[in-house]
Amino acid sequence: MHASPNEARPRPAHLFDRDAEWNGLVSFAADARPGATLGVVSGRRRQGKSYLLQALTTALGGIYVPALELTEAVSLRLFADELIRFSGSPVPPFRDWLDAIPYLFRLTGDRTVPVVIDEFPFLVKASPALPSVIQRELGPGGSGSASRARLLLCGSAMSVMGGLLSGRAPLRGRAGLELIVHPFGYRDAARFWEISDPRLAVLVHSVVGGTPAYRRELVRDDTPADLADFDAWVIRTVLNPQTPLFREARYLLAEETEIRDPSLYHSVLAAVAGGNNTSGGIASYIGRKSNEIAHPLRVLEDCRLVIKEPDLFRSGRARYRITEPLVTFYQAIMSREWARLELGGGPAVWPGARACFLSQVTGPHFEALCRDYAIAADSGVFGGLPGEIGSGVVSDPANRIQIEVDVVALAPAEPGRPRKILSLGEAKWDRVMDLRHVERLRRARDLLAAKGFDTRDTVLSCYSGAGFSRELQAAQSPDLRLVGLDQLYAD
Ligand SMILES: Nc1ncnc2c1ncn2[C@@H]1O[C@H](COP(=O)(O)OP(=O)(O)OP(=O)(O)O)[C@@H](O)[C@H]1O
Ligand SMILES: [Mg+2]
Repeated sequence: MHASPNEARPRPAHLFDRDAEWNGLVSFAADARPGATLGVVSGRRRQGKSYLLQALTTALGGIYVPALELTEAVSLRLFADELIRFSGSPVPPFRDWLDAIPYLFRLTGDRTVPVVIDEFPFLVKASPALPSVIQRELGPGGSGSASRARLLLCGSAMSVMGGLLSGRAPLRGRAGLELIVHPFGYRDAARFWEISDPRLAVLVHSVVGGTPAYRRELVRDDTPADLADFDAWVIRTVLNPQTPLFREARYLLAEETEIRDPSLYHSVLAAVAGGNNTSGGIASYIGRKSNEIAHPLRVLEDCRLVIKEPDLFRSGRARYRITEPLVTFYQAIMSREWARLELGGGPAVWPGARACFLSQVTGPHFEALCRDYAIAADSGVFGGLPGEIGSGVVSDPANRIQIEVDVVALAPAEPGRPRKILSLGEAKWDRVMDLRHVERLRRARDLLAAKGFDTRDTVLSCYSGAGFSRELQAAQSPDLRLVGLDQLYAD
């Protein structure tokens, strides 16, 4: 029987959002069935994993062990200290983890308590056998069978955390909870930053995305007061060498991955940020062969800094996209001016970088936000729930052009039926959209119908950050949808 969780354990007020995460953690940690269980919490750095897990152990009276990069002997001593703090009684010194883990399970006994080991990858680095020890003690006949400890292993090194449960790793198949803590979505991020002007919200999100720490520790809660303050805010935060946010994009890459050749990785990210986002495009931008960049791309994908998005209309083609806005901002704006910026040159650099900010950062970012909007759209918006959202390219041989469709919503695939297109959309951050944009979408729709897609109910969507022409507004029809900033941010 599952413990009915959360009426009894409301989410603490200081924890913003994270409802689903909180509910998942509480139902795992308060599950009263006999036997110790294992959960794994991962996610990129600074997303609030520790914050969430500390709140959990505080609310449920559990054990929170923050691991550090130390030798096994020192880590074992710190582990013992946490057990003493929990039980209030002395704990014998541990020889190794084979000694410590069964002790933990005996100590917690039949109390249902969360036991969080944060920064678990540090422990594994010093004690590679630790996952096998945990596997054994949780397995049949292991010391975990007499315990109700709810062991939660947490870490941000995606290479380690991902590997923990994959392939033939010892803990594979053991975890009863696998929680990935993601950045806040764009609407939540606006609320978190307490920004109610959607235009300002898009601009801020295109710099700092949805990572909670980027508002708190990294800029000490410095929020732009209004749209007019945005430029000054950029200069006093992300472009200011005295704020930790200034170096964050560089640290991210160094800390997320165990890479030997950072310059290659930076070059790959620079290529993608510059719009060279196919495998061939990246390779030629950085002057390597395609097969030489396959590995760095895979590593960047594994640590979730980059994702590969298929072209929904051309099978086998894909584009890479940087997931963390700050990394795009760094590559597009900061990296080439690094020396000047380090000397405090932000105020001089920013006016010259604004055009690039618009074309390489905000423009593509706005398209991504529109896709996020489409993902969350309820069935009323496109006349059905989307099964897949992305972008795609339609070739128009008669006019010798390629039509890029920024926001494509496909219905879930149905075997034996033509794929149904719910919506084709174009996004423009800085341009008033007019009837020509609709014409282009209509042309794409006709070409796709000829290719065998079901376009009978396809809605043509115009997403604009700058509004719509009078003619377009007057042209309302059931197959046309105009989405402005207010709709994008409406709940
Ligand atoms: N849900 C939240 N509500 C309010 N503030 C949050 C929330 N999540 C995170 N924060 C803020 O972000 C900061 C960073 O979070 P935290 O240290 O927990 O990240 P992390 O995922 O553990 O990162 P790392 O992998 O670097 O350890 C917190 O100290 C807090 O200020
Ligand atoms: Mg942490």
